[in-house]
Amino acid sequence: MKIMIIGGGGREHALAWKIAQSPKAEKIYCAPGNAGIASVAECVGIGVMDFDAQIRFAKEHAVDLVVVAPDDPLAAGAVDALEAAGIRAFGPRKNAAVLEGSKAFSKDLMKKYGIPTAAYETFDTPETALAYLETAPLPIVLKADGLALGKGVLICATREEAKEGVKTLMLDKQFGSAGDRIVIEQFLTGREVSVLTFVDGRTVKVMTSAQDHKRARDGDRGLNTGGMGTFSPSPFYTPEIDAYCREHIYQPTVDAMRAEGREFKGVIFFGLMLTADGPKVLEYNARFGDPETQVVLPRMQNDLVEMMEACIDGTLDRIDLRFDDNAAVCVVLASDGYPEHYQKGFPISGLEAFDGKDGYYVFHAGSKFDAEGTIVTNGGRVLGVTALGGTLKEARANAYKAAEWVHFDNQYMRHDIGKAIDEV
Ligand code: AMP
Ligand code: GLY
Repeated sequence: MKIMIIGGGGREHALAWKIAQSPKAEKIYCAPGNAGIASVAECVGIGVMDFDAQIRFAKEHAVDLVVVAPDDPLAAGAVDALEAAGIRAFGPRKNAAVLEGSKAFSKDLMKKYGIPTAAYETFDTPETALAYLETAPLPIVLKADGLALGKGVLICATREEAKEGVKTLMLDKQFGSAGDRIVIEQFLTGREVSVLTFVDGRTVKVMTSAQDHKRARDGDRGLNTGGMGTFSPSPFYTPEIDAYCREHIYQPTVDAMRAEGREFKGVIFFGLMLTADGPKVLEYNARFGDPETQVVLPRMQNDLVEMMEACIDGTLDRIDLRFDDNAAVCVVLASDGYPEHYQKGFPISGLEAFDGKDGYYVFHAGSKFDAEGTIVTNGGRVLGVTALGGTLKEARANAYKAAEWVHFDNQYMRHDIGKAIDEV
């Protein structure tokens, strides 16, 4: 099969790497890809939102399957556009991608179908939101309804902060039209867990768990980022919690989407908070997580192309999804200053140290070839150094060891990825 991946970050590098291991994959393209992805796929200079160019390319090159990885094209109907052109595509259609694309939609769905989540109210005007905040319990969480690069969530400790937040989202429109409507919800405490699942419209196959570290600095300080590192599995996600989530969260969500006429095919990423009252849904994503994918896929035994085809064909029930009984840790090497201001274009050295080393991976999040063909930094998150181990502690030691193998100017990483596992 000829397979084209849409996207160009660390998640897409991990997807391309895993797809390349499938005996079904004879040729892989990636639009736009990056310098790391270029080692496993042919990168083509087409943007993730340029559906016309993607369709033209797929037709010209007889592509059999297009994998749409990022949230923006999914929410904008990339899969619908590809299918309308007669091209098989992996990912939810627009009417199902709304599960991630609108927080108000997902909260209403959970309320209607009794899926555990934080209590909330939805607001369409700043006046009503501000009036509500006069007496709302604190701390409180404000969420822009639409997609905001994972940054549209404000956790407010004081009433003043919350009012300022309404101004940021609804009046200053820091996230554009994503803030036309906001959800204000109860603040939850507990351990966060990310669970990725394959979904074929009816059947859910649950992947191994993971945990992300969203804050920029050690000790969970600093600004929220796209993710500074991950580990898998989460030792806090016990078999009992898994059984509860399958019964009360995963299957009910898939059934609810079908009942609403929004059959979901693709990956649902459940962002969970393990509270004292049981697991609750913090958010849904309609795609693989980044950098969760970098620790989940290296542990997956199945052929990823087969999994994706089963999601499309509605045959997931026939598949036994299996993961290795080991652990993985991914440490993100970022440009200092991320997620705000940072410089790009520094040469990256030492990448060859990963060649031929089993259990060590360097997934590129933001890299490119410069005019001389040197691989240089090209983003806030630059590399995801991932390592396997028999235990989480071993995997963490291996990942931090491997992080020393590569260098670029302005490099920054967190030193405490996976540290919480010491408490177990
Ligand atoms: P989201 O984009 O919805 O995942 O939110 C980003 C981050 O904000 C989450 O990973 C949580 O750390 C935090 N968060 C979101 N909703 C809540 C909540 N209701 N209570 C506490 N923290 C939350
Ligand atoms: N790591 C969180 C996300 O992919 O949204």
